Amino acid sequence: MIYLTRRERFSAAHRLFQPGLSDIENLEFYGSCANPNWHGHNYVLWVTVKGEINRENGYLVDLKKVSKILKDRVVDKLDHKNINLEVDFMKDMIVSTENLAVGIWNQIEPGLRKLGIELHSVKLQETENNIVEYFGK
Ligand code: NI
Repeated sequence: MIYLTRRERFSAAHRLFQPGLSDIENLEFYGSCANPNWHGHNYVLWVTVKGEINRENGYLVDLKKVSKILKDRVVDKLDHKNINLEVDFMKDMIVSTENLAVGIWNQIEPGLRKLGIELHSVKLQETENNIVEYFGK
């Protein structure tokens, strides 16, 4: 079994808030990420896949195909977007790093499986100090 990680980056805006709370209550709970006028992050995403090395070509998988799935299903949908308002797979979700990592997993897992590899983890950095990692359950 070999593991391969692809890094992607995107910049996006969001706001953390619970609709049932007032602006002040949301700011108390979420801090500056609850700013009603939005704010942005430079996200870094690491997607790790795993499987067996192909004996003929020496690869786990053609990385161009992995990259295309990440681009089409994740980066193009998120980069320079307002995640709360514009990203279909995050509709009606609280745009936390946790929920975004799970959303990204769900976006890419079926396509990666079709390539004959298994998704191992989705690691998402919102800031240098805040990183979430999801393993599918
Ligand atoms: Ni934030």
